[in-house]
Amino acid sequence: MLRILCLVSCVLLMPSRADPGALLKLGMDFMNKAVKDAMDESQILEKMAAMASQKQAGVKPIKGMTGMKVKEVTPPIITLEFLPGVGIFQCVSTRITITGKSFIGGTMEITVVVNITASNRLQQDEATGLPVFHSEGCQIILVSVKTNLPSNMLPKVVNKFLDSTLQKILPGMMCPAIDTVLEYVNHKWTNLTEPMPLGEAGSIKYILTGGPTTTASYIEVDFSPVVQREEGDTIDLPEDGAAVTVLGDYPDGSSQLVLSAALFTAELTLLRKSFDVDIKGKTIGKLPPHTTKTLARLVPRVRKAYRKPVPLMTQIRISKPPKVIMKAGKSQLHLHGTIEMFAVHPKSGPSSMFVLETHFSLDIQYSLSEDKVHMVTSMDKLLDLSVASSSIGSFKEKKLKEFLTSLLQEAYVPLINGALEVGFPLPDFLGTKYGQSELAIVENTLVVDLRTS
Ligand SMILES: *[C@@H]1O[C@H](CO)[C@@H](O)[C@H](O)[C@H]1NC(C)=O
Ligand SMILES: *[C@@H]1O[C@H](CO)[C@@H](O)[C@H](O)[C@H]1NC(C)=O
Repeated sequence: MLRILCLVSCVLLMPSRADPGALLKLGMDFMNKAVKDAMDESQILEKMAAMASQKQAGVKPIKGMTGMKVKEVTPPIITLEFLPGVGIFQCVSTRITITGKSFIGGTMEITVVVNITASNRLQQDEATGLPVFHSEGCQIILVSVKTNLPSNMLPKVVNKFLDSTLQKILPGMMCPAIDTVLEYVNHKWTNLTEPMPLGEAGSIKYILTGGPTTTASYIEVDFSPVVQREEGDTIDLPEDGAAVTVLGDYPDGSSQLVLSAALFTAELTLLRKSFDVDIKGKTIGKLPPHTTKTLARLVPRVRKAYRKPVPLMTQIRISKPPKVIMKAGKSQLHLHGTIEMFAVHPKSGPSSMFVLETHFSLDIQYSLSEDKVHMVTSMDKLLDLSVASSSIGSFKEKKLKEFLTSLLQEAYVPLINGALEVGFPLPDFLGTKYGQSELAIVENTLVVDLRTS
């Protein structure tokens, strides 16, 4: 028994596919809004009413009734339910009133309440790679019939009417209406996998990892995002930081976009060139002058080499891919590279004094606009500093820690923030605007709590 249990759980533990770099969990609030928007935009109600009032081929006149026409189709009540493994069950409940003249004079009315039900199967379209709904098994269920016909006419006449009219005409009229609404919903996925520019360095595409899945409380769409350089080659998402954390404690019906730290790492790798910076100029904020004189206080050898103060140039080169780390409530950008200090002679130009290997971290704050997530960084700390080479002889790099930390904060961080201003595009689907959404940082993951209003 134990062995069997182990076998079962071991199989369950095997990842069925690679960790998605991003995923969407769409709850019922979101799907209800998507369907309601589609109904509004497709003007399906107006079209249904227009169709209903047209002369329908195949409608047998009711004996004793003339001038039959559809008087009213009430706005339908739409109910959706998730069908695990399939998609969405849709029920459209509407009341239709048909009037006519009775042979004994006076107006007659027949009011029927019908439910139109269908299963909307959610799949990945083979041609486009996009999520797509197909409706299946559209059915018309007669919920109630009311008429003002004399009661002795009721059973026979009404039954005939229901047989000939409702069962023959309504499916042809109502089922295409369901399809039309779905077409609108499907159409709103169109731009999902389109490349979106990340500044001028390249682009990102949210490609589906596989078909969407449906559970009892949400639809999940997994992405294998493609981060691509302008030149064409793609940047793989690192495996480290790709396993997203999906929180279970969101209210029922809510929806989230979940983005991995690995995705941001790949996107920042794309921007890496703009992290290589030369810091020039004597005055930097409120810092002591960016000159050999200031440096000489920390490194005596500098004073020996440069008796007269000359301006400095600090060259920062990032040598490894940037790395984004996310822990509950906190996110950091880790950069590895070199800091090279030059003395800039007014006449002979820059000459290198020393090169330091370094690793430092920046804190990241995230915010949202309609279609992007934005980052602003601030200096956290220098984690590593070691002399790689020096033309002024050996010295204690530790003494430079504070000086360099301030220099990075005042001169480097603003340039990084400038480079990050391009913003990181979010999936474009079902008309989602992200501006009102809320953000949370959890292990390896940035969670965008999607708002429906
Ligand atoms: C028809 O739809 C309404 C509204 O969704 C629901 O309350 C009712 O139970 C349905 N009736 C039948 C017979 O399916
Ligand atoms: C897709 O993007 C194009 C170009 O930006 C836009 O005109 C169109 O409305 C978008 N389509 C949808 C369904 O959002």
